[in-house]
Amino acid sequence: MTAQILNGNRIAKQLRQGIAEQTTQLIAKGYRAPGLAVVLVGDDPASHVYVSHKQRDCAQVGFHSELLHLPNDATQQQLEDAVTGLNARKDIDGVLVQVPLPDQLDAQRIVELIDPSKDVDGFHPYNLGRLAIRQPALRPCTARGVMALLEATNIPIRGLDATIVGASNHVGRPMGLELLLAGCTVTTAHKFSKNLAANVQNADILVSAVGKPGLIDGNWVKPGAIVVDVGITRDDQGKLNGDIQFEAAKQRASWITPVPGGVGPMTRLGLLQNTLQVALQQLR
Ligand code: GUN
Repeated sequence: MTAQILNGNRIAKQLRQGIAEQTTQLIAKGYRAPGLAVVLVGDDPASHVYVSHKQRDCAQVGFHSELLHLPNDATQQQLEDAVTGLNARKDIDGVLVQVPLPDQLDAQRIVELIDPSKDVDGFHPYNLGRLAIRQPALRPCTARGVMALLEATNIPIRGLDATIVGASNHVGRPMGLELLLAGCTVTTAHKFSKNLAANVQNADILVSAVGKPGLIDGNWVKPGAIVVDVGITRDDQGKLNGDIQFEAAKQRASWITPVPGGVGPMTRLGLLQNTLQVALQQLR
């Protein structure tokens, strides 16, 4: 079997068009455009690239976006004041503080300061808790994007065995909650797992989110599995690699995401969907 490619670029583009159309309709009815504010602290080059992508995505679908850029030596108080100010803004639906933050700043305190109703990252404990009790509000963007990828395969996933590799707060844990909510039997493997190969071999749906290139032997993939690689790491030659050995996995899977062009665009789509969701809620 050779897998079909689960093309995140193509699927995200299609779904972005729907968001752009809804935005046009809102504005035609006299409402303001959905608004996203991104707070960036310091000069991490990768963060600058990510933030510029988010701003470009917003422009493409007709959202208002603004960037609040604080210096690398910003204090906790300065950052908290920035977030508090954005929480109070009527014209801003989504507030996102780009991570990682410089060491002097307490990132978790910042996450918990963002108004949960504007937490378009879905990282606030309120939003993670809502997902845990099967009443999702704002859903973490990567897990939301992966669910949209799975939906695009048209394969019913209820009852399937899903293995997630990686138990991070931002990806692995919310991914498990999403798949559980969708009726999968969920295994989360992590750095203490004793038998990663067996966990992978059992998976009808495999999602890896570790950031270790080649960690998953493609020959472990269950024949016919849906394989989603969230990992993305740049090697010495500048090439981007996923966690899963792609060529071998592709010979066994039914569907597989490429790296890059798989999950990345879907995470960005999730952010747009969340921002629109908040804007529409404000109208009600
Ligand atoms: N840094 C890298 N990805 C993300 C993201 O999705 N959200 C935030 N806030 N920071 C990030």
